[in-house]
Amino acid sequence: MKHLLKLYDLTEQEIIELLDSADKLKYEQKHGIEHKLLKGKTLGMIFAKSSTRTRVSFEVGMLQLGGNALFLSSNDIQLGRGEPICDTARVLSRYLDGIMIRTFKQSDVEDLAKFGSIPIINGLTDYCHPCQVLADLMTIREFKKTLKGLKLCFVGDGNNMANSLIVGAIKVGMSISIACPKGYEPAPEIVKWGTENGNLVITQDLQEAVANADVVYTDVWASMGQEGEKEKREKAFQGYQVNAELMSHANPDAMVLHCLPAHRGEEITADVLEAHANEIFEEAENRLHAQKAVMVALMGVKNKQAKL
Ligand code: CP
Ligand code: NVA
Repeated sequence: MKHLLKLYDLTEQEIIELLDSADKLKYEQKHGIEHKLLKGKTLGMIFAKSSTRTRVSFEVGMLQLGGNALFLSSNDIQLGRGEPICDTARVLSRYLDGIMIRTFKQSDVEDLAKFGSIPIINGLTDYCHPCQVLADLMTIREFKKTLKGLKLCFVGDGNNMANSLIVGAIKVGMSISIACPKGYEPAPEIVKWGTENGNLVITQDLQEAVANADVVYTDVWASMGQEGEKEKREKAFQGYQVNAELMSHANPDAMVLHCLPAHRGEEITADVLEAHANEIFEEAENRLHAQKAVMVALMGVKNKQAKL
């Protein structure tokens, strides 16, 4: 594994190894055991979109591992004034040990990796959100003690989260259903891959989607960059809400996850969010541990000492 551009690039074994490493880092951090595995290393964090969790968890993760993190708003670096990705990649590769980037186009992330010579981590694009799904899988395994054979139901927009959840769930042997309005399905090539390689159902029937679900997941109706479509989307997504009535059709012990930020009263009701707050905020915490595992795997010294 040289980069984390999208989950599709990882094998099941690589995903499980990252989750095992994340569990270990979490346990040891809670018990005061420090791992300065990235001592002296610097992560550049390019943000073309807002962030709370991704920014803070990457920065804190780097500090806990003995390294440094630089926040680079794309408005403040020359990238925002049109300096090409191919030049930015070659310049930053000479100062940094890794780059985390949150942006719009997946091709920009892929180009950073193509033209640079350091590990690139995708911190969200319009296409996918691999770091989030690693934390999600970690959280599901933590609560359910297994992944294989579980069913995850995603309710809402077939967006970056839906795309990554399909790939992540199927790679680790979970089945997945997506309840989304017509015209808001996940990326066609991911739907094709999921249908051919696992148990994937795309439906407009919420009750069918949520039946026997062990995990119910949702995300905002309008993602970052889609602010102009807010009203149109509010209409299209009416009813695509995780509420108590919908939860009564899932397994009685079903978890609820949300990548956050949440819009109470839209994709999720306040009562369901609060009833599952222990899962949802553990999921947010697990961003830190999962990303530390990713950074150690990509940026750590490849010798025995660096192994956990
Ligand atoms: N879930 C997530 O990526 O949150 P932020 O947008 O706050 O980083
Ligand atoms: N789909 C959301 C996820 C935020 C973490 C967005 O892209 O804005």
